[in-house]
Amino acid sequence: MGHGPLSGYRILDMTQFEAGTVCTEILAWLGAEVIKVERPVTGEQGRYSQAEPGIDSYGFLVVNMNKKSVTCNAKTPEGLQLMKDLLKKCDVFVENMGPGAVDRLGLSYEACKAENPDIIYASLKGFAKDGPYADYPAFDPIATHTGVMVSVTGLPDQPIKSGISVADSGTGTMLALSIIAALLQKEREGIGQRVDIAMQDFMIGLSRAQWEPYLANGHPNRRVGNGMPLEDVAPSNTYPCKPFGPNDYVHIYASRHPGSKQWDILCDVIGRPDLKQDVCPEMSTPRKRFENVEMCDSAIAAWCAQHTKHEAMDIMCKAGVPAGAILDCDDITNDPQYYERGMMVEVDHPERGKVKLPGFAPKLSANEIEYLPSPALGGANEEVYCGLLGKTAEELAELKAKKAI
Ligand SMILES: CC(C)(COP(=O)(O)OP(=O)(O)OC[C@H]1O[C@@H](n2cnc3c(N)ncnc32)[C@H](O)[C@@H]1OP(=O)(O)O)[C@@H](O)C(=O)NCCC(=O)NCCS
Repeated sequence: MGHGPLSGYRILDMTQFEAGTVCTEILAWLGAEVIKVERPVTGEQGRYSQAEPGIDSYGFLVVNMNKKSVTCNAKTPEGLQLMKDLLKKCDVFVENMGPGAVDRLGLSYEACKAENPDIIYASLKGFAKDGPYADYPAFDPIATHTGVMVSVTGLPDQPIKSGISVADSGTGTMLALSIIAALLQKEREGIGQRVDIAMQDFMIGLSRAQWEPYLANGHPNRRVGNGMPLEDVAPSNTYPCKPFGPNDYVHIYASRHPGSKQWDILCDVIGRPDLKQDVCPEMSTPRKRFENVEMCDSAIAAWCAQHTKHEAMDIMCKAGVPAGAILDCDDITNDPQYYERGMMVEVDHPERGKVKLPGFAPKLSANEIEYLPSPALGGANEEVYCGLLGKTAEELAELKAKKAI
């Protein structure tokens, strides 16, 4: 810990579940010292594993790498004092509790600023604090439903939510970016500030491309399954491949630009030159292909059915037509290329043993990220409370006896 572009910065982390923890995990990967504060005995809510109570959930392992954990019951006077002492030693405070919870603890922005005037105080909520839904709780699907995404995802008569937590991890990532910007401003101007982000607002921003068809058509966009959501064009579909298992599909999308050669190349690849733009009026433009989508899709589907998803992706892409196989967790976990370039990493967790997990996508040429397993609950109590705050062993024992840590 302590290497990387953010080395030297210390983060006081009161995050839970995924959205907040992803934010502080990124800061930790980038070298910041992240002190994760958790309630004694149970830890933060994301530690709990319904399948295996008493052992950290895999979900916790995935979003809490490279952090230190201390226990603190901030609802006790001693615990609150510990938090205030820690605030003085930290550059950033991050939390994603429910509306009002952090204020009720006595850790509002004003209270934290009183302890550390330059603090960067980062709060992640479901909804904006100055909007009408400010008091509403939210998990990921609440934000994807209220932030446009589900209005355009699924089938025409069946809204479908995303299978991954786009709002949680996306908002957490955006919060990390904003905290780093605030740290840069603090370097230049010496000022701290509060950074607020709402998952709904993040999703609205993430959906910004949807305003292209919305403004052009003057009405909300339709759900188009695997079709192209921005315009009525083809091909854009997910086609079954050999051996027709649950994830044996490839998505093929040829550019919607009218001058693109991708459709003609695709026709050569699938052995159907008779469907090229200049020779087949029904296939002459992206819009025409959409109007005759069964003709378009059946020709592609017949070819895909003769190939595995990997073959289909390779052949299409090598010819210059964008294609992507559905790659599931099994495909990624068992492919050495992801470990060779640090996108998948193996960590040695004290309870779970060796675990393979996704790493940090960006690569910074002056830095190499060291991946450490998620911390044991309270594993850094002595290091932080004695080392950083100067408590004695007796004082630590007293805090434990009072159930403050
Ligand atoms: C996710 C969410 C719905 C969960 O709601 P919840 O289970 O009721 O949990 P809350 O965060 O509201 O409450 C946490 C409680 O733990 C307490 N707590 C947390 N850490 C504590 C600590 N170290 N010491 C003492 N108490 C602590 C809080 O004070 C709060 O108590 P209170 O309700 O008596 O005020 C809610 O936290 C939320 O809307 N968060 C913001 C959006 C978000 O991040 N959602 C996605 C999460 S992946």
